[in-house]
Amino acid sequence: MKITVFGTGYVGLVTGACLADAGHDVLCVDVDPAKVEALERGVVPIFEPGLEALVARNREEGRLGFTVDAAQGVAFGTMQFIAVGTPPDEDGSADMQYVLSVATTIGRHMDGYKLVVNKSTVPVGTADRVRATIIAELAGRGVEHDFDVCSNPEFLKEGAAIEDFTRGARIVVGTESDKVRELMRECYAPYNWNHDKLIFMDVRSAELTKYAANAMLATKISFMNEMANLAERLGADIENVRLGIGSDPRIGYHFIYPGCGYGGSCFPKDVRALERIAHEVGYEARMLSAVEAVNDHQKSTLFNKLSNAFDGDLNGKTIAVWGLAFKPNTDDMREAPSRTLMEAVWAAGGHIQAYDPEARDECRRLYGDRNDLTLAEHRVDALDGADALVICTEWKEFRVADFKAIRDALRTPVMVDGRNIYEPDSVRAAGLLYFGVGRGDSV
Ligand code: UGA
Repeated sequence: MKITVFGTGYVGLVTGACLADAGHDVLCVDVDPAKVEALERGVVPIFEPGLEALVARNREEGRLGFTVDAAQGVAFGTMQFIAVGTPPDEDGSADMQYVLSVATTIGRHMDGYKLVVNKSTVPVGTADRVRATIIAELAGRGVEHDFDVCSNPEFLKEGAAIEDFTRGARIVVGTESDKVRELMRECYAPYNWNHDKLIFMDVRSAELTKYAANAMLATKISFMNEMANLAERLGADIENVRLGIGSDPRIGYHFIYPGCGYGGSCFPKDVRALERIAHEVGYEARMLSAVEAVNDHQKSTLFNKLSNAFDGDLNGKTIAVWGLAFKPNTDDMREAPSRTLMEAVWAAGGHIQAYDPEARDECRRLYGDRNDLTLAEHRVDALDGADALVICTEWKEFRVADFKAIRDALRTPVMVDGRNIYEPDSVRAAGLLYFGVGRGDSV
């Protein structure tokens, strides 16, 4: 099939590369010439395991191309995927200008049947707006063309995007049309062979499914963080509680890891957007507000633990930070708990000495050159002369650590483990003061 993908962010690029890898002919369109030029040279602007190789292979084999020419993009594919960003507006609602501008472009250039597939995370009712935008554009041109709009939300996780796309649990498609069902079946056939993963439903349900999935996962995390905070005050260990409840298949082990709060470009944005959507239809989503409030509080717990360990005085202290990305296997620092910590330490007059395997450049881009930030090339260098160590991201390379060496490198033996990656007893045995999340006496 010939497929056009608008937007070469996470979702667009992974969609384009995976569909090309499945044998389709794919053209990706982006408005940013520098990005397109880099992609044409095989340079992928984001860190995502396996993506660069996938892009390179499919470019070489001639199944994947990039352009800034939107007219060419519209002419190319029968299927037109919209995978552009929906950043939050000031009030938390999703900003639809990029999605609607692609719809305008499609309406402006289409010259025959097109199936417009919306992959961006959009408020319920967007497919109708996309349809209306295309109709208006066609009317303005004085032409008539047949087209369909369907919703096909994406459930991939950063860091595991290719695996999630190619082996995802489900492929949700919102449409009422048999023709669209057939085209979507054909499009996803290469990734739908062991059992039928396609779930067809009406468009609005598909649009809500995306928000409901993210809100449910965010809820699990905030719930566990609330239990962790309770465990700390009750002298219980949340890690035991996690195993105890996760063993019930109705609850399950996934997404019940307590920590320093969820970040990234999806959960915070989507929980807020869904709250906003609810508000617009006259419903107060109390649970979503609570999920968000617990998370905001959780992101400040690292600083609070650190500050308590130094009797509220971090002025002039150097804090080593391991992990800047909002989670492992990505260089993304959007809404990362590390940022809440660093900004609070700076406000308290402290210095940050940070290490992250992938996010150092992103950190430089976000915060620029500042006297109170040192980015270390190696995790050990971040400890040099620091007063305490805080772990913000559970990168695999942090899991094995020489606690004695850490204690020797630090000026004061304080470790705050924001992801509970270490066994408190082993850390304490090396002479460090250990503060985890929800682990007995680690308040
Ligand atoms: C999330 C969803 O998992 C994807 O299914 C969805 O497609 C995506 O959003 C999206 O809407 O595009 P992502 O934001 O990449 O994916 O990352 P996750 O792996 O879900 O992690 C989100 C945050 O939750 C991270 O900060 C992580 O550290 C935190 N988390 C996750 C916990 O604190 N505890 C857990 O048990 C799991």
